[in-house]
Amino acid sequence: MHRPDMRSLTLIANHKLHGSRESLTAYIHALDAACATLSDQLQIMLAVPHVFLSHAMSARAAASRLHITSQDVSQHAHGAYTGEISSAMLAGIGVTHTLVGHSETRSRLALDDGAVARTALQAQASGVTPIVCIGENLGDYDAGNTHSVLSKQVESLREVIAAQHPCLIAYEPRWAIGSGKTPLMQEIAGAHSVIRRAIHNICDGEKLARDSAIPLLYGGSVTPANVHEILALPEVGGALIGSASLEVSSMIAMASAASALLERK
Ligand code: PGA
Repeated sequence: MHRPDMRSLTLIANHKLHGSRESLTAYIHALDAACATLSDQLQIMLAVPHVFLSHAMSARAAASRLHITSQDVSQHAHGAYTGEISSAMLAGIGVTHTLVGHSETRSRLALDDGAVARTALQAQASGVTPIVCIGENLGDYDAGNTHSVLSKQVESLREVIAAQHPCLIAYEPRWAIGSGKTPLMQEIAGAHSVIRRAIHNICDGEKLARDSAIPLLYGGSVTPANVHEILALPEVGGALIGSASLEVSSMIAMASAASALLERK
């Protein structure tokens, strides 16, 4: 399972609509303490509800390596959009990353690929790095259409991928999120190579370095039991984790597994 090309890994804990100010403080303190001893090549992010972003940033230790991340952001710069938060507002309080187009957000707001791409571009324009989620639904998976759906979704991100500002892409099969089901390991590897090829096709010669600089993460029922196998797959540069990230001991176990993989380089 050793990957000689592995240079860094990113783990993102997505807390969704969970936690309180108090529980988040304890979580951050425990995660910060555990991360201090892990590989420098491991990036750890924590996506919290908007209302906790400022608190989460100030609860971190002085030398914290934890990136506090937004769970979503508006596709608009400003205007009459009650309840929304702009990427400039995130940047203004020092938030550097945001999830964009998570499948739960896509469903709730009926977002299509175009809206997701506009949101990611808006984030990049404010200097906030989008972590764009893509993935097929169960019907597409059952019909064997996963690869064509992914190629189309990557194509819809053409401007985001070609932009100067960085982005990350998370492959999350919609049917694997919160279901306890994951694709077979060779299916995860196959999907990641399709995504990488589609990115490669968008990037011309000059931008090849940028192509390989776009990390691809897997998400959907990642747990301490399967994280090692998933992270060891070619092209998998990290994981986006929901349920199994809520208990800090479970998140620390997954971060330790990722760190061990990096240190075996
Ligand atoms: P899950 O969620 O790990 O609970 O499947 C993943 C996600 O929503 O990003």
